[in-house]
Amino acid sequence: MDISIIGSGYVGLVTGACFADVGHNVICVDNDPRRIETLQAGKVPIYEPGLEEVIHRNVSAQRLRFTGSIQDGVENSQIVFIAVPTPQQPDGSVDLSFIEKVAREIAGVLTSYRVIVDKSTVPVKTGEKVRESIKRYNRHGAEFDVVSNPEFLREGCAVADLMRPDRIVIGAQSEHAIDLMKKVYEPFMAPILVTDINSAELIKHAANSFLALKISYINAVSAICEASGADVEKVADGIGMDRRIGRTFLNAGIGYGGSCFPKDIAAFITISEQLGVPFNLLKEVQRINADQKIRFLKSIREALWVLRDKKIAVWGLTFKPDTDDLRSSVAIELVSDMVKEGAHVTVYDPKGMAKAHEMEALAGAKFASSALEGVEGAEALVIATEWAEFANVDLAIVKEKMTTPIIFDGRNLFNPETMAKLGFHYYSIGRASVTPH
Ligand code: UGA
Repeated sequence: MDISIIGSGYVGLVTGACFADVGHNVICVDNDPRRIETLQAGKVPIYEPGLEEVIHRNVSAQRLRFTGSIQDGVENSQIVFIAVPTPQQPDGSVDLSFIEKVAREIAGVLTSYRVIVDKSTVPVKTGEKVRESIKRYNRHGAEFDVVSNPEFLREGCAVADLMRPDRIVIGAQSEHAIDLMKKVYEPFMAPILVTDINSAELIKHAANSFLALKISYINAVSAICEASGADVEKVADGIGMDRRIGRTFLNAGIGYGGSCFPKDIAAFITISEQLGVPFNLLKEVQRINADQKIRFLKSIREALWVLRDKKIAVWGLTFKPDTDDLRSSVAIELVSDMVKEGAHVTVYDPKGMAKAHEMEALAGAKFASSALEGVEGAEALVIATEWAEFANVDLAIVKEKMTTPIIFDGRNLFNPETMAKLGFHYYSIGRASVTPH
């Protein structure tokens, strides 16, 4: 199939690369000339495991190319995917101006039948608006169908998620569009669910909200574990072994972050209110999530007494491991809060340092070039992201380098008993704190 993808961010780029990898001809479009130049020069502007290799392989095979022109993309493809940002507005609603602009631009260059597919996360009923907009600006009166095809990939394992999806959701009205979409996804051999457009759009917000709910659920349980002396990891294992519940997304921590959950939950709340059926449960999900960081900070303050002038190392800045994405990362908020309280914070992240240097919120922090350099002379270590590099570090060396061996583990990376044996004061989430044996 000949496919174009408008928007070469995380979703657009990974989708384009993987479509090309299963044999489609793909044109990735972006309105940022710097991004297109970077991609044309063979460089990948984001860190995502395996992505660079897939891009290089398919550019060499001439199945993947990059352009700044929507016209080039639309003219040379049967199916046009929209994968542009849908950022959050201050009131929690979604800014759909990028989608609207792209719809108008597509309409302006549409000369014959195309399937226009929305892959960006959008509020229910956006497909209707896209259809109206394209109809209005469709100068040549060309035929088209609008399809909703939400994306479920996770950053950090996006290529694997896209190549082996749990399901493909196709929201469409026309049989012809459904057939073409099925051809696009045939090579992925995944179950396909065909729905109306509104349902497909809703599936995305409902899925992300449910996953966030699961995280907030276990985080709320972690608070009860701390108060009662139970162990949240054991509780998560015990409830997760019930196949109706499942163990995934039951990892207690400092709360969910990233470019999706915080924004999508806020959007879903706003949409439900606009529709007159407020989804108040999700407000509690948000509250628990915010509370998790506050509780963690409180435990740091309680243990260190005063933060002013304390030397604190922070490992992990990205919102999750295996990505360089710092957007809405709880780790960044933590660093910023501790710096505001007068702590001398040194940060280290395996992939996030380049972007971290540009962040205003980290202006008061020092940057280390390795995990071990970060803990040199530290009076406490805060673990904010569960990178494998941290799990594999030699803790004896860490202890030697620190002035006082106190660790606050916001991701339950280590076993408390082992930490006590190694001589650490160790605080984690939803588990009793331990002191050196
Ligand atoms: C999420 C969804 O998982 C994807 O299915 C979806 O396609 C994507 O949003 C999107 O809408 O584009 P992503 O935000 O990339 O993916 O990453 P997740 O793995 O879902 O993690 C989100 C946050 O939840 C992270 O901060 C992570 O640390 C946290 N988390 C996750 C927990 O605190 N506990 C868990 O058990 C799982």
